[in-house]
Formats: sequence, C-alpha cells, structure tokens
Amino acid sequence: MNQKEKARQRIQKLKEEIQFHDRLYYNLDQPQITDFEYDQLLKELIDLETQNPSFQSPDSPSQKVPGSALSHFEKKPHTQAMLSLQNGYSIGELKSFYDRLLKSLQKKQVTLFMEPKLDGMAVELIYEKGLFKTALSRGDGVIGEDITVPVKTIRSIPLKLEELSKAEQSVMELRGEILIFKEDFKRINEEQELNKQTAFSNPRNLAAGSVRQLDPKITAQRPLRCFIHSLGGVEIPFIKTQENFIKALHRYQLPSFKIASSKTLKPPFDLCCLSHSFEEVVNYYNQIRDMRSELPFEIDGIVLKVNSLSIQKELGAIARSPRWAMAGKFPPEQKVTFLEKIKFQVGRTGVITPVAVLKPVQLGGVTLRHASLHNFKELERKNIQEGVHVLVHRAGDVIPEVIKVVAPPSSSESADSIPPATSNKLALSDQSPANDRPASSVIPLRVGIQSNPKKIQIPKNCPVCDTKTKNQGDYLICPNSQCPAVKLNQWIHFASKKAMNIDFLGAKSIEKFALWGWLKSYADIYDLKDKNIKEKEGFGEKSYQLLVKSLEKSKQVSLKKFLFALGIPLIGEETAGKISEKLYEKFQSQQGSQLYDKNKSLTLLSALSLIKDLSIEDLSAIPDVGPLVAKSFKQAFENSALIADIEALAKRGVTLKSAEKKSENLKGFSFVITGALPLPRPELKERIEKQGGRVLSQVSSQVNFMIAGEKAGAKKQKALDLDIPLLSYEEFLKKFPSLNPPV
Ligand code: IVH
Repeated sequence: MNQKEKARQRIQKLKEEIQFHDRLYYNLDQPQITDFEYDQLLKELIDLETQNPSFQSPDSPSQKVPGSALSHFEKKPHTQAMLSLQNGYSIGELKSFYDRLLKSLQKKQVTLFMEPKLDGMAVELIYEKGLFKTALSRGDGVIGEDITVPVKTIRSIPLKLEELSKAEQSVMELRGEILIFKEDFKRINEEQELNKQTAFSNPRNLAAGSVRQLDPKITAQRPLRCFIHSLGGVEIPFIKTQENFIKALHRYQLPSFKIASSKTLKPPFDLCCLSHSFEEVVNYYNQIRDMRSELPFEIDGIVLKVNSLSIQKELGAIARSPRWAMAGKFPPEQKVTFLEKIKFQVGRTGVITPVAVLKPVQLGGVTLRHASLHNFKELERKNIQEGVHVLVHRAGDVIPEVIKVVAPPSSSESADSIPPATSNKLALSDQSPANDRPASSVIPLRVGIQSNPKKIQIPKNCPVCDTKTKNQGDYLICPNSQCPAVKLNQWIHFASKKAMNIDFLGAKSIEKFALWGWLKSYADIYDLKDKNIKEKEGFGEKSYQLLVKSLEKSKQVSLKKFLFALGIPLIGEETAGKISEKLYEKFQSQQGSQLYDKNKSLTLLSALSLIKDLSIEDLSAIPDVGPLVAKSFKQAFENSALIADIEALAKRGVTLKSAEKKSENLKGFSFVITGALPLPRPELKERIEKQGGRVLSQVSSQVNFMIAGEKAGAKKQKALDLDIPLLSYEEFLKKFPSLNPPV
C-alpha cells in the first residue's frame, strides 16, 4: 500500500472513531476516552487532511473546528413557519385540548406521542443529501437568522446523517433545541466565579448566548448539545408518525429522546411514549414532573402531539400554534432551604431592603443564594427570621423570592435533598411544588418551634454610612443623599440599558471606578475616558476602547431616558416619558421665543430651564402624576448639585435626540408583555409606545391585550382569569402590522 492510500485509510478510520466518540459523549452521555485522547485523534486527523487536502470531506469532524468570526447573522426565511405551542397550565386545560381533538376528529380515541418540553434555544437544522448545510434560529417564527457557522462547531450535531434511504437523500429540515446540561452550566458558572466574571443566569440563556456568537471559537468552547424533536417543512414519504420520526432520528445517529412505555420511563433519556387515553396523559405528566430534577437538562413541561402526521396535517394550525399539539407546563419550581442571614441593601433612592442569604439551593436550573424580602413590614408579616427554613421560588420565574417560613425538614431529610412529590393524579390541578415536598407538608412555622431562630432588628442606622434611618410609608430609608451606596446605585442606574444605555459600563466596573475615587457626579462618568483604565488589572486596551465608544454613543439620548437616568425618587420610565411629553408640548407652544436655538430642537439646557418653570400644578396635571410624584420631581430640580451636574453633562456633549413624532396607531390600547419573546422586552415596549400605545406592568381589567411569549407564567394565568385576550408575538404582529420590525 502506498503512502497516499495509507493516509486515506487512516483518515477514514479517524473520522469514524471521532464520530463514534462524539455520539458516546453527547447522545449517550457515556464517554470512553478522555478529552485529551479525543483532542489527539482530532489533531492527527487535521494534520493528515492538511497534508492530503484531496481527502478532506465536508462531513469530516475537522470541519467543526471554528473558522474566523462573522460580522453579522444573515436573515433567512423558514420554508414553513416555526410555530409555537399552545400552553396548558392545568389538568382542565389539557383535558379541554384532548376533548377538542376527539371532537374535531369525530373519534372516541386518539393516539398521542408524549415528550418532555425542553427549555433551550429553538433551532432548525437543514441537511441536504444527508450533509449538514444550514442552521437557522427561530427569529420571529417566519424569518430566522443564519447561525450555520456557530452551530457547525457543536459536537453533538453530526455533519453527516447515517443510514439514509434513497427517500431521505433530498432535503431534510429538522427542528430541535440547543441546550446546556445542568452540570456543565454549574461548572461554567464556577469558572466564571473563579475568574471574577458575572455568572450566567440560567442554562437556556447560556445556550442561546453561546450560539449567538459571531466568533465561532467561543461557541466551540461551550459544551452545547442538541435534541431534535420535530420535522420542518419537508416531508419524508415513509415517516408516517411522530414515533416513526423519533425512531428514524436514532438511525441517522441524531440526538433525541428514546422511546419508552409508561412503565419504563426513566432518566436521563428514556422519556417519551405513546398514549391512548387521557388517563395515560395525566400519568405521563406526573411521572415526568417527578423526574424533572433528576434530568441532566432543563425541561419546563411536557408536549402532547397527535402521533399520526397525516392527522396533524388535517388539523392544521390556528394563529401560529398547531391544533395537533399542546404543552402541559409545570408549575414554577419551589424549594425549601435554610435562611442563614438577613443582610441590608441600600438602593439608589436610599430605600433599605432586607435580603435573605440562603443556603445555596438549585432551582429552575440556577443556584439561588439570595432572595428578596421586599421590606420590613413584609418580613414581620411573614415572620421571617435568621435561622429558619423557608420556601423559595423565582417570581415570574426570574426574581428569587421567599414565599413563607416552613417547618424544618425532619432529621432524615436535608433541606436540599427533599424527596420528590409522590405521583398523584390530581397533582396537576393542585398547586403542589413540582419537585419537592408536597405543599401539604409545608407547615407554617409557629415561633418557638425552631432550634434557634433570630429575630432581626430593624437597623436604626444606615448599614453603609451610619446615618440615622427614617421610616417612609412601608419603607425604611437612609436619608443621606451622599451615602456611598446610594451614589453607587445611582451611577449604576444612570448607565443601565433603559437609562443612558452605556453598553460597556456595568455594575462591577462602576464599583471599581467609584472605589478608585473617579466618580463623584454623573458628569464624571464621561471623564472616565481620561483615566488610566488601560493599566488597571482586568481592563486593558480592548475594554477601554469599548467603554470610550459606548460613552460616546450614549451621549445622544432621548429626554425621556435622560430624565429616567437621573434616578429621581418615584420617577420611573413611564413617568419620565409623560413628563418629557409635557416638556415638548411646552417647548412647541413657546417656540419662536428667544429661549431656543435656531434649529428648533430642544437642547439639554433649554429643557432644564423649561423644567425649572414647571409648577407643581403643571406637573400634577399630567395623567398618572400624583402630588407626591410632582413634589419629588420639583424637589430634585431645586437641588443645585443636580443642576450643576446636568450643566456639566451638557458640556461633556450629552445632547437630546429630537423627539420622534408619535404615530397614533395604537392610541387607546394598553398591553402587558410577559414571557420570553424573540426580541428584548424594552425594545417592544418602545415600539408600542412610539405608536401611542401603553405598556403596563400589572395585569388588570384596564389591559386590552396580553402579549404572551414562551414561558409565560403567573401573569398569563391572571390574564386568563380576567378574560384578557392573549396574543402570541406573531399574533400581535398580525393584528398590529404597523409594529412589524423593519426587515
Ligand atoms: S414540537 C409548535 N416538541 O417549544 C411546533 N417543541 O412553543 C412544534 N420545544 O420553540 C414544536 N421541546 O422549540 C416540540 N418536545 C418538543 C419541544 C418543543 C421544546 C420548543 C420548541 C418551540 C416551543 C414551542
């Protein structure tokens, strides 16, 4: 055998071997070799292919080695829209879905295929003639982004499908979720902590953030996995059922769930099965819910799908959701843990908030260490003390919160090893915590039963500057406007996204700059460019340049954001917007007077003099601005230090963006936005407001529509209770087409 032939054979062998180990590692979670040995194999393959370029093929694992960075992701339409699932939050809703199915099919029985609902990033993979060609993100469901370059580096996604029959050789569109396993998430966050970097909030965000990297080298470093769960727009002739499809995935060596029966469901992957009755659905829901915390990845419910693809087609879709499928969402996770300590945090308005320091507990894929206790009244009402056990959850599935004090676990159970709830057919309809002790065993604590709980004393002095504290309504405040904690939090607020939006000035950096004595006023933030940042540990040239750039960019700001950025007590985003509108009204009515410059746009300094002219009555006449808010605003502008600071900001080049003319398309409509949407919430809010609509934070009968994205929780339930029409993001765009983003 000549050298060339030897190399060809070795390349073939290495390709097979590497693919074999990829599958062991990613699809089966049973690695047989170490990372080092794997890297050696890959290195040998790359070397051989470099020496023999003619033997390089598009399905070689060497093609997964990341290339150079992209400048942006191209937008690309899906051949068939990526729909979302209807969500059911109670057994009643699942039963209605089931009954609706039977009725529309005019049948007494329907076969469903049941799967866990993965909590990751949705993706579409397109294979042509069995070779990986394109990966698209979901985008708005109709148009996605081309994320082929980063996705190609994901080791669990094969570049070539195995054992394809002739019928499968054409184009295949496969849909699934990209995930990070809980354990990998934990490890990455530990590393972040060691490197003094901010921890990632949950595995889903980390997975999505890792995929949406323009530099594929970053994606390649993250242990991303992919599970396929459905077929896109292209049909495969002999695949007649969802069950057939999942079986075919295994043949192609694509990662997915394994099919089990109701008796053999078990972690980590034997997680889907068929059902022929509603009883089996409830049984499946309960089993998967009880397994949830043992699974290596995050799930947030189950998915019921009509098994027959032809019946699926017959049923079709209604308003962006298929009629043939429904998600049964699990109630938000709650857990019991030990409250070690209560500490006090001083916010930007001087409010002192008690915060619970918890024994770390895993909840919804994140480690909780702290939880909000809101205020001292609430602390008293809930009888929360140091040294007690508490039930915690993440409010709206995000902010950690203490629900109530509970009896300590008995000596045989530790706080974080609570046995799963026993299977119970009714569990879906009761509100029992999903994975932990059933609610019935969560007994409110009577004082005195605990070993040594310690009632906390309401601080008489500010924990940071020692100024005597004051009561203000339900709140305790530090009245010292120069308190270092107040100042620090004001600067953090000033730079934040909804305020001046200084991208590369985060809380950690501000803390350091304040510590080095560089910050005394808002204007000092714009002098940071003259400081010796490059030389400081953890900063360097690149972060300095990014900071300078984002400082420059932030100097053009709307009056609304500027007023909000000043952090005036009681002046939230909404109120700042209303006051800014009023100022523009005044400005227009006074135009022509010598106060304003020729080009007729409002400057920061002229806005300042308009503000000084506003009386309490003027302010109180603004809708939603009460006397307290008016007083707070007026008082802020009587403070000469703030005025001087604004003048200094104007000198540094902070200018007001001219007010965009509001269209009135959405005038009179109010919305509540909840759940995960394809775009950041503030962006959608801004778009709605620009067209005259209102976005409210609380669900009430005042609300005309709820825009509910994925993972909508309690707010959605409230909207359902109040009969407020729910719109998915896609439905919303359909109903209000003027809100469509520019493509
Ligand atoms: S089937 C409706 N099966 O949930 C289109 N989707 O709201 C059919 N998801 O973003 C989707 N696990 O990516 C299906 N086992 C599963 C799923 C699943 C998670 C995601 C999906 C989509 C969202 C639908």
